[in-house]
Amino acid sequence: MEKILQSEYRSKVQPTCQDSLTGLMDLSFFQLSMDREIERSRRYGSPFVLALLDVDDFTGYNNKYGSLAGDILLKGIGSIITRRGVRQSDLSARIAGDRFALLLVEITLPVAKKVLARIHREIIETLGPNFSLSMSIVSFPGNAATKETLLFLSEDVLAQAKESTTRKIFWPEEYEPKFKKEQSSNVLVVDDEPANVTLLSALLTSSNYNVFQATSGEEALQVVVREDIDLILLDIMMPGMDGYEVCSLLKRTEATRVIPIILITALDSVEARVKGIEAGVNDFLTKPPAREELLARVQSLIRIKKVNSNLTSIENVLISLANIIEATHKYNEGHIQRVASMALEIGKRLGMQKDDLESLKLGSMLHDIGKIGIPRQILNKPSRLTSHEQKVMKKHVQTGYNICLPLQKNLDAALEIIRNHHERLDGSGYPDGLSGDQLSLPVRIMAVVDMYDALTTKRPYRKANSRAESLAIVEENARKGRLDMEVVKQLKYFLIKQKKVDMPQQP
Ligand SMILES: [Fe+2]
Ligand SMILES: [Fe+2]
Repeated sequence: MEKILQSEYRSKVQPTCQDSLTGLMDLSFFQLSMDREIERSRRYGSPFVLALLDVDDFTGYNNKYGSLAGDILLKGIGSIITRRGVRQSDLSARIAGDRFALLLVEITLPVAKKVLARIHREIIETLGPNFSLSMSIVSFPGNAATKETLLFLSEDVLAQAKESTTRKIFWPEEYEPKFKKEQSSNVLVVDDEPANVTLLSALLTSSNYNVFQATSGEEALQVVVREDIDLILLDIMMPGMDGYEVCSLLKRTEATRVIPIILITALDSVEARVKGIEAGVNDFLTKPPAREELLARVQSLIRIKKVNSNLTSIENVLISLANIIEATHKYNEGHIQRVASMALEIGKRLGMQKDDLESLKLGSMLHDIGKIGIPRQILNKPSRLTSHEQKVMKKHVQTGYNICLPLQKNLDAALEIIRNHHERLDGSGYPDGLSGDQLSLPVRIMAVVDMYDALTTKRPYRKANSRAESLAIVEENARKGRLDMEVVKQLKYFLIKQKKVDMPQQP
């Protein structure tokens, strides 16, 4: 039945959509078919390949051999495509004067390349050496995810093939798409030698960067304050402020520390590099930098900076969210800030490194973010929670984890804190009943400071415990094997140092 309908359809539709010269389909039918294939590909995940074929300098061919010869050539191409080329399910069309299109459906790119290369070879071998034929091969959705991109890419790849005198068949892997170029970023070039500034600026401008210039450290700082700079190329030896000073100043300033800095210097000594690293430099280049090397490093550092800027804003959004949640939680005012500062102090005393401390801080700020999912009447209930309400409350760790999970790579240890801060060393905690070594140091620290801070704050059903009382309860929990004793000791030390609890009595 389907076959009958298909042939009915073809007999009705084809004559009006056929190209009279070659017998192939015409442009309108090709466009209809492509829309249908894209739809099909999206619905069933079936790939297809679009090939464009174009006779090189067809006008020249017509002028030389006459338009009749030109028509015979086109007809010949059409008949080889029909005879040798395509399966019943594929489509071939003449879509403009000397331009042909083939749609090969449900086929992978490597197979399509072989089929199309064979067609190309046969056309050239059959129709003689007096002309050449360019071809582009692009797959959907492998190389292009929309109709527009598919057509754009096919045309551009075809243009590459037409330009080339050595190869006539091109596909996207060998082609550097123009639209992929880095968007204009702002680069600041700092050098007291004007000739160097001019040279670097010319290299960068030719690669689509907006260049700002400064001939001293002081001038560079002014530009950084005024403009949104994405990267700095910095000379070391300058009168007044040298490159190291400019760099360390920028890296110490919150608003500018994310700007990548490349030191460009004639000095290639180990000492210069060590000083540069100490000042917070991101990369080095030796004068005069090779164009390719310069552009590669600039491009990659700017890309990293943009990712980091996004990360910073994601973190900021999460922290603001955590603060909002805290503000709606009547009995928890100031909890986040207090646990974060205690956790950091303890982390430092236990020898945690800078990156781990950053994660600990972030985890502390976000540890109760899942309370966004707890109904207000439970969160702010003026009496003790029922067992059902306690169950709901306990879900905040899982909810927080789910909220932050998509940022797993960026949040790292912070995510663990969010999920595990109510776990206990003896396995009596929640949500997973983890125990012992399954609990990392940041998690153990958070468990201690979170419990301590909760004990010091008032609840509707009990008064606030004094700091000493709270510490005693926490110590008791450590003795029973629920909390890490070493962490509790550090908390005690911190509280004594802060004069928040009395010195223990000397025996
Ligand atoms: Fe919590
Ligand atoms: Fe908490």
